[in-house]
Amino acid sequence: MEFSCKNFKVGNCEGEKVVDGETMPLVLQPPVANKSDLESLLLALKNNKHWLEQMIIKNSAVLLRGYDVKNAEDFNEIVEACGWEDIRYVGPAPRTHIYKRVWTANEGPLSEFIYYHHEMVLIKEYPKKVILFCEIPPPEGGETPFVPSFKVTERMVEEFPEEVKQMEEKGLKYSFTARSTKNDNSSMRGRGWEDAFGTSNPKEAERRANALGMDMEWLPDGGVKTILGPRNLTKVFEQRKGRRMWFNTVVGMYGKELSSAMMADGTEIPKHVVKRCEEIIEEESIQFKWEKGDVVFFDNYALLHGRRPSLPPRKVLVATCK
Ligand SMILES: [Fe+2]
Repeated sequence: MEFSCKNFKVGNCEGEKVVDGETMPLVLQPPVANKSDLESLLLALKNNKHWLEQMIIKNSAVLLRGYDVKNAEDFNEIVEACGWEDIRYVGPAPRTHIYKRVWTANEGPLSEFIYYHHEMVLIKEYPKKVILFCEIPPPEGGETPFVPSFKVTERMVEEFPEEVKQMEEKGLKYSFTARSTKNDNSSMRGRGWEDAFGTSNPKEAERRANALGMDMEWLPDGGVKTILGPRNLTKVFEQRKGRRMWFNTVVGMYGKELSSAMMADGTEIPKHVVKRCEEIIEEESIQFKWEKGDVVFFDNYALLHGRRPSLPPRKVLVATCK
């Protein structure tokens, strides 16, 4: 689809890349200087809902820049103007509800790198779009890098055709341990199971876990080991040029203190394959520097995203949509 929309002007940002002919991210700005207020933006979004959705699919990432977006209330209005249904976050990251559809992105320590992932990749229903808003840009670091997932698959197939074939055929199995019932914000994965599953009743937590396609194993210390699988290595989604997305979280979960990743039949994944995959993901990453008021739309089917370590303060809020 060609770019044609009188309500936005295409801009540029430092760090953008052209991938397979498309600029990532596509930067959209006010068409004229006096149209940077929130009302003008909301109107432009309402009038171009379908077009914007097509742009998100085409470019994988769209960055709204140069608008007067101040806080969670403003961001919520933007999310609602787009008209996509909400999808509730389920996962290990500690998050706090801020306002209506808006949550904190991850309250784990800013000094840690949040590893690249497709949002909610292990859950049966994952969001199509992840929308992030920067209220306070970090003074240093704290970027939200993203990776065109199909590039990772392409390069992995090129370097490890046999291993990829085997992982694809067997499927993957993951485990994740949620410790006690108390939240521990000193770790990004520090969510206790009560919070993660939204209940303090173990039976109910188990029921909810099963509904999400997970098995649970209670531990003597009150924690719980969650086992997921088999899961795909890659996925192909409609409207995305038949691209094979690297729709898994092997690198993020492999060989960690609280998590593991292996083939579904129990076969170990060779360490050097995981290590090389990590390098490829980093090499393919794209990042921009957050500016106050930025709103970015990620096609969660097509992109992995993460968070680089940051100096405080940094405030980035999130909404996830179907
Ligand atoms: Fe995320």
